[in-house]
Amino acid sequence: MAILPIRRAGDPVLREKARRVRTIDSSIHKLIEDMWETMYDAPGVGLAAPQIGVSLRVVVIEVPDHERVALINPEIVKRSGERHVDEGCLSVPGFRGEIIRSVKVLAKGIDPKTGKEIRIRAENDLMAEALEHEIDHVNGILYIDYLPTPDALMPLRDAPEVGS
Ligand code: NI
Repeated sequence: MAILPIRRAGDPVLREKARRVRTIDSSIHKLIEDMWETMYDAPGVGLAAPQIGVSLRVVVIEVPDHERVALINPEIVKRSGERHVDEGCLSVPGFRGEIIRSVKVLAKGIDPKTGKEIRIRAENDLMAEALEHEIDHVNGILYIDYLPTPDALMPLRDAPEVGS
């Protein structure tokens, strides 16, 4: 396992549409271990493989009130509603911004432990936000893309950083 450097906005790997994982082999298990370790070290509540420079569709999330989850080839199945959230990202350190996310999110992906598809439902919480945020990452999207203007990006002052 290894703690890897987190790529920052401006790095082209964060703007690629990441490739689908075809086989869950030992390299994928190692990638996920490195992602957990890097996420905990940051610390953050989620991480997508492109953030450590690997352009594959793999995400990990750990937030309160939900079991931690790693998803391979994750997708949003359904989403509804709108709410304002104050969001941050480990790839945009030191900043936050208010954007609109969904209220209800249903996502699916392959569980690396079983190789089977799992579905995750979340509503009006950090899991709902993180699912959209991390799945955006594997599509080359950053939350700052949703800001109405570049100066809507706010510096983090005393508030603890919650990034993913
Ligand atoms: Ni992020």
